[in-house]
Amino acid sequence: MARNRTYTEIVTGLDVGSSSVRVAVGQLVVSKDHPQQLQIVSSIEVPSEGIQKGQITSIEDTVSAVSNALEQAEKMVGVPIEHVWVGVSGNQIISQESKGVIAISRTDGEVAEEDIDRAVDAAKAISTPLNYEILHVLPRSFSVDGQTGIKDPVGMTGIRLEVDTKIIHSVTSHIKNLSKVVYRAGVDIDDFVLSILAAGEVVINSRQKELGCVVVNIGGPTTSMVVYEDGDVLHTSVIPIGSSHITNDLALGLKTSIDVAERVKKEYGECVSRGINKKEIVDLKDVGADKSEIVTRYYIAQIIEARVSEILEKVDEELASIERSNMLPAGAVFIGGGSKVNGIIDIAKQVLSLPAQLGYPLGVDSISDKISDISFAPAIGLVKWGSALTHDGKRKPFMSNFKGKMSDRVKGIFKSLIP
Ligand SMILES: Nc1ncnc2c1ncn2[C@@H]1O[C@H](COP(=O)(O)OP(=O)(O)OP(=O)(O)O)[C@@H](O)[C@H]1O
Ligand SMILES: [Mg+2]
Repeated sequence: MARNRTYTEIVTGLDVGSSSVRVAVGQLVVSKDHPQQLQIVSSIEVPSEGIQKGQITSIEDTVSAVSNALEQAEKMVGVPIEHVWVGVSGNQIISQESKGVIAISRTDGEVAEEDIDRAVDAAKAISTPLNYEILHVLPRSFSVDGQTGIKDPVGMTGIRLEVDTKIIHSVTSHIKNLSKVVYRAGVDIDDFVLSILAAGEVVINSRQKELGCVVVNIGGPTTSMVVYEDGDVLHTSVIPIGSSHITNDLALGLKTSIDVAERVKKEYGECVSRGINKKEIVDLKDVGADKSEIVTRYYIAQIIEARVSEILEKVDEELASIERSNMLPAGAVFIGGGSKVNGIIDIAKQVLSLPAQLGYPLGVDSISDKISDISFAPAIGLVKWGSALTHDGKRKPFMSNFKGKMSDRVKGIFKSLIP
């Protein structure tokens, strides 16, 4: 019943991509009779400026794109947006395994929350690559006195607590530039979250995570992926090839401009050439070329197929590197603008030998049809990530960055920015 419902504070996700800046604003609807539901109240997309190949090349231009998106979102929501959860993408992300070991502090040997924090802190004590900083520490499993594979050791008894973590690093300059952009756009930062991790939270369910699956985001210059198994993040990776490479290939292959190639890709793009009638033609003049030029749809599809196959083979190589090629029962879930090309699911099934599907947000309510746009998954995922932390403040297995400590880090970055 409506009067049973309460709404949490609004949460905003900001995904600064190479092609588009996206903002999603939402809140959790909490009612006695139903599980929490995420409601998206605004989703805005504006073209990116000042970002190339995932890196900020002009602070001023990026600030203007971000401000524009935030202003539009504010108008739609009707209240000021004061702080945002910021997605981090780009190809300068690396991940490392690390183990933390501590002695359990209580005299009765019972593991407390503080022990977990200390063990995770101990795992952070690895040498961070030069110019990189820790973005996430994801605890994967714990062991108490040698008993391994424990998911939640609180309340267990022992002497020695160990944690296996996955540590994700991002290049420091990128985080600093992103902070500067958000700060200058007039809002505070709740936290930074790896975009693909946020997206994964919203496009797959816990059963898929248990069984094992991969979420693949084909963006402009990059493709990012996250692999889940036994409910945890097993692997993350960024491949420096994305859909903008397809546009470049089409421009070269069809000897036309980037703008025409981009429109050819979006309007006539197909990534399975087999079965296309070789007599079907496209006049480039219809997609903005100066003069008439006839190309076949078969040729367009061949160019796209070659590059999409390459991207998928790289995804498969990443899976092979963790011994999961052909081995994820819940298959591959595709998001990002590059996954909108026709035929992607068919070709993915062939190349990866896995079940494959497009990734739409699950359990999310909205009046806008933007939520069924697969390139909005990271922004919506950020709202989900933020809402869960804002609402109950409790650490969730996937939310292993500790809010308080992170805010200190953000403050530290701000301090270094303020003259
Ligand atoms: N309908 C479509 N068919 C094929 N490709 C498309 C379609 N729509 C968008 N794209 C491509 O998707 C890419 C952009 O994807 P997306 O918007 O997810 O990237 P981004 O988040 O801005 O960038 P990134 O995450 O890589 O920094 C562009 O290369 C664009 O050409
Ligand atoms: Mg993106």
